[in-house]
Amino acid sequence: MNQNHTRQLLGSLLFGALVLGACGSDDDTSSSDTGVTDITSAPDTTDATDPIATTATTEAGSDSADAGGTVTVYTGRHYGIEPVFEQFTADTGIEVRFTTGNDPELRERLIAEGVNTPADVVMTADAANIELSADAGILASVDSDILTETIPEELRSENNDWFSLSQRARVIISSTERVENPPTTYAGVGDPEWQGKLCLRPSTHPYTQSLVASLIIAEGEARATEIVQSWVANDPLYINSDTDIYNAVADGECDIAIANTYYLGRLLTENPDFPVGIVWPEQDGRGAHVNVSAAAVTANAPNPEGALALIEWLATDGQQQFTDVNFEYPADPKLQPNEIVVGFGEFTADLAAVRQLGANQPAAVGVLSAAGYE
Ligand SMILES: [Fe+2]
Repeated sequence: MNQNHTRQLLGSLLFGALVLGACGSDDDTSSSDTGVTDITSAPDTTDATDPIATTATTEAGSDSADAGGTVTVYTGRHYGIEPVFEQFTADTGIEVRFTTGNDPELRERLIAEGVNTPADVVMTADAANIELSADAGILASVDSDILTETIPEELRSENNDWFSLSQRARVIISSTERVENPPTTYAGVGDPEWQGKLCLRPSTHPYTQSLVASLIIAEGEARATEIVQSWVANDPLYINSDTDIYNAVADGECDIAIANTYYLGRLLTENPDFPVGIVWPEQDGRGAHVNVSAAAVTANAPNPEGALALIEWLATDGQQQFTDVNFEYPADPKLQPNEIVVGFGEFTADLAAVRQLGANQPAAVGVLSAAGYE
């Protein structure tokens, strides 16, 4: 492994000063009563001692450390993750401890912890956020034939310091009961026809920022601004949960929206007649905006070998389970998604943009602000 030895001296100064949010970049919270250890809910402490570090130290002395070591994961992508980690432990003998938070919070935490971080692996629900972590010097470049052979070039960083594990398409959704001709491009969402009938996720969310970054990459900043302004002109209802957005379309609060497809997979599992459909956008051009779940070995990982073992396993033996549990698309093109997801149909994905989303994230934030997007 080719370790990046960047050290973050700031870390100890801010150690213990940060609090992880309960809700991550995904919409979901996680539970903790399984074989793997969710250290998000570690006992709160009132002094300056970091609760995560304290818990990690205690556990490191337990029997689990003898079997194959322990890997500590900070993850912004946490829906259904516990059984996946349990399977990894069953396959390899390596224990997993994890904590959840949203992607930017976890990045800030890693920067603050610096050389003292207990985290071996960071996982995000957004490509831009893992690239911003790479820019901050908190990821290690790794030399892994398994990863470079399994994960397509567009879905890993140029320096091999992060790797996508799954793809997540962000598409146009519409009511199957009230909408006959939904828009087929992101620009079409701004057609005045959808005035007062549009739901969108707020500008602060990484999903929104990466979508707008993809517009900038494809169409340039000026045109991207026009498109976002046209969305705003439709007086959208802003909802900060994709699940709630789907339900708002089903319930008639809006007719169309932009959302990730895997939430529909979950909703169809509960109700096969859920009255919302997917429109694959930009199929005559670049393809639908695709974001990723990604993973990286941290630059200051206490257990870099275990970290790489986990990521390699998630990319290979564990990838089907990892992607199926959240109805995402595998990063490995040889694998098929879950049966429900296959039912969404074939589509062209804008894979070319994935690596560039991080570099365009600041511009996307600027476009959103300039357009008055809330
Ligand atoms: Fe999500």
